[in-house]
Amino acid sequence: MDYQRPAQLFKAFADESRLQILALLKQGEKCACVLLEELDISQSTLSHHMKILCEAGIVTARREGKWTHYSLDCSGIDQVKAELEQFVIAETGCCCGSKDTELDAEKKELLQQVQDRYIEAAKKVTGGSQSSCCSPMDCCAEPTVGFAASDRLGAKLYTQQSSTEIDALPQDALLASLGCGNPTAVAELKAGETVLDLGSGGGIDVLLSAMRVGEHGFAYGLDMTDEMLELARKNAKEAGATNVEFLKGYIEDIPLPDSSVDIVISNCVINLSVDKPAVFKEIARVLKDGGRIGISDIVADNKLSQEERRAKGSYAGCIAGALSFAEYEAGLSTAGFHDIQITPTHEVVSGMSASIIKAYIHKH
Ligand SMILES: C[S@@+](CC[C@H](N)C(=O)[O-])C[C@H]1O[C@@H](n2cnc3c(N)ncnc32)[C@H](O)[C@@H]1O
Repeated sequence: MDYQRPAQLFKAFADESRLQILALLKQGEKCACVLLEELDISQSTLSHHMKILCEAGIVTARREGKWTHYSLDCSGIDQVKAELEQFVIAETGCCCGSKDTELDAEKKELLQQVQDRYIEAAKKVTGGSQSSCCSPMDCCAEPTVGFAASDRLGAKLYTQQSSTEIDALPQDALLASLGCGNPTAVAELKAGETVLDLGSGGGIDVLLSAMRVGEHGFAYGLDMTDEMLELARKNAKEAGATNVEFLKGYIEDIPLPDSSVDIVISNCVINLSVDKPAVFKEIARVLKDGGRIGISDIVADNKLSQEERRAKGSYAGCIAGALSFAEYEAGLSTAGFHDIQITPTHEVVSGMSASIIKAYIHKH
């Protein structure tokens, strides 16, 4: 964690005179001459305070004649708010406590099932019981529906990856792979980009992304379970990855500032969300203008009703919560995405396919 920026932000607010200045600027733009009079301080003291507030991104300055005029920087303040929130979440591990209480009982129950399943999966890898968890049959797959899960879900989908990249991954990252595709293979990541992986699990896609974006890029993983985060952080340490960070939180309430990432990837997670419109909205919010998504997910044929999807497998097993092609496209389009492409790659149960979803966002 880089503490320089949070320390700069806390310092900006940690002074009585600066808080008085902010209270005055809340009324509107003020000339330095007015602030000097109101605060009864010297010009050099005022300059010192204003430098700190401007550098933190809280205040902007405008020169008119011999005086500088100051005003609050509302978009900068939004950014500061998000950065401080992210800092507190990262440092305390507490996040989004209010989210649960807003969910109705059925959604709460489904979320609990999803959490329990992936906590269990993480524990099995951490505890070394490879034969059960690491067979994806136990995780994002449905033993009851009779498809060859070991070929269609999990680490076997990483055959397009270069052997150098695979060799650089810790064994536990491969074993904990519970996805239904290989988003890094389709995301066309470039050096220097910032990537966010939603539902990062044991961290395989974050670590692969980190290799592709290189030392000037950065890869975030986001997951709601402490057990998966612990496993992912251990894998990152073992891989020696320095350009990664695993955040705790919900994909429906992403703990990152607006317009802060170039690409959002995700591997078999969005189907698990109990509030998919919120996920699409959050992805749009955190993407920079011109940003893109490269997602692997299970998608249902348009003709399959919710009831029929439920009959094919459980919610926590990535089947019952899957959107249809039309629903996926409509959800992304409502959130502002364009050039949406949803390409099925392989059928996982009849009428439901692992698919690659690509789309772009323009904010202006
Ligand atoms: C099927 S696993 C996929 C893990 C990883 N993407 C991979 O390919 O191995 C789903 C992961 O998403 C996380 N997850 C599910 N729903 C989530 C939500 N609403 N918010 C955050 N994480 C979630 C689970 O904890 C689990 O680690």
